[in-house]
Amino acid sequence: MQEVLPEGGVIRKLWIGETAKYREHILRLDPESRRNRFAGGVSDDFIRKYVELANSLDAVIYGFFVNGVMRGAAELRPLGVRLVREAEAAISVEKPWQSHGVGSALLGRVLLTARNRGYRLLHMACLAENQRMQQLARKFDADISFDFESAVGEVESSRPTPMSVMRELMSDSHGFATAMLDLQTRMLRA
Ligand SMILES: CC(C)(COP(=O)(O)OP(=O)(O)OC[C@H]1O[C@@H](n2cnc3c(N)ncnc32)[C@H](O)[C@@H]1OP(=O)(O)O)[C@@H](O)C(=O)NCCC(=O)NCCS
Repeated sequence: MQEVLPEGGVIRKLWIGETAKYREHILRLDPESRRNRFAGGVSDDFIRKYVELANSLDAVIYGFFVNGVMRGAAELRPLGVRLVREAEAAISVEKPWQSHGVGSALLGRVLLTARNRGYRLLHMACLAENQRMQQLARKFDADISFDFESAVGEVESSRPTPMSVMRELMSDSHGFATAMLDLQTRMLRA
């Protein structure tokens, strides 16, 4: 699937020490997006604790950045030692950047990472009325299957291949280079 991002936007993995960027992004979500993201209403305090936990749980987080500000995120959380092949995935995009292909690009990255980590089943908490997420999931029909009857969608990912591992490595090194460039530009401006 071809990836087209809004101008100036990049997707890369979040680094250790960038938790605040993730927290600020989630807190900026409008009420409807926040409700859809967490499959229910949650407080600011809940979000602060949630992000801290994500940081300590070996989660993989991708960020969509515009001018160094995180405007979208995709999170992949392992579900614990007993469910080594299962993980939870969640995606969020701030309203002005929605419907521009960012969610599709983020879901693509998460599925690639899930595949390379050997996760066979991904859970996604998705409200039944969340049409947008369901449309987005349908775009990946070849790789995933969703159960929209319940609030939780289940995604089966394909097995890793040398090519899928290479794709993730290439996207990581590209993300590192763009982050360095971004940091350098901001230091020069300061
Ligand atoms: C769901 C969400 C992640 C989608 O992100 P996005 O960047 O808007 O998604 P995309 O632009 O890649 O669009 C994906 C598909 O959604 C559908 N879509 C886009 N905008 C839509 C709209 N306004 N209404 C209905 N469907 C829409 C389209 O099918 C689109 O595919 P297409 O552009 O090829 O037709 C985003 O809307 C969001 O953050 N919502 C709040 C949080 C949430 O619901 N998270 C999911 C639960 S984990």
